[in-house]
Amino acid sequence: MPTLRALIGASELDTRIRELAAQIDRDYPEGPVYQIGILKGAFIFLADLARAMNTPARIEFVGISSYGSGRTSSGEVRLTKDLDVSIEGYDVVVVEDIVDSGVTLHYLMQVFAQRKPKSLRVATLLDKPEHRQRPVHVDYVGFKIPDEFVVGFGLDYAEDYRNLKDICVLGLSPD
Ligand code: IMP
Ligand code: MG
Repeated sequence: MPTLRALIGASELDTRIRELAAQIDRDYPEGPVYQIGILKGAFIFLADLARAMNTPARIEFVGISSYGSGRTSSGEVRLTKDLDVSIEGYDVVVVEDIVDSGVTLHYLMQVFAQRKPKSLRVATLLDKPEHRQRPVHVDYVGFKIPDEFVVGFGLDYAEDYRNLKDICVLGLSPD
């Protein structure tokens, strides 16, 4: 049976996301800032971050798949949904749920950099730095977490648990 243990509670998430939003406001006082959310995991973080910001934001999403239905990375990145707009000449903040190996973000940053944005930064709710395989620079980090598999607040395991209000560690029996 799967077990869930709360790691970061809803109010802690809320407080930290407001801090990140204030930081982004300071860094981009004018706007608009293109916030590009990576589907599906980033949808809740992006919604909260964008609403906590005062700087005008434009919201876009890309779809990417780097994981199968399990808990380990396939190491293969695929763009399943591209941007609908040009980001040339705009300030862009890529919004990610969690950076683990860095493979996904490394790939995406290359893709976006080729499109000549004015600036390109990354905001991630969670950073799990222990398994980095690719160097990635993350500008705004919500929480650094240990190497455990987490779900909730947008993050899933095989499409389950995305609507949990807390970030929880998922424990599965080894069989
Ligand atoms: P990376 O390419 O290994 O950095 O993986 C990033 C993506 O893997 C994230 O956007 C998540 O979708 C997924 N991922 C990595 N770790 C976790 C986790 O602990 N729980 C849920 N999804 C995860
Ligand atoms: Mg993701």
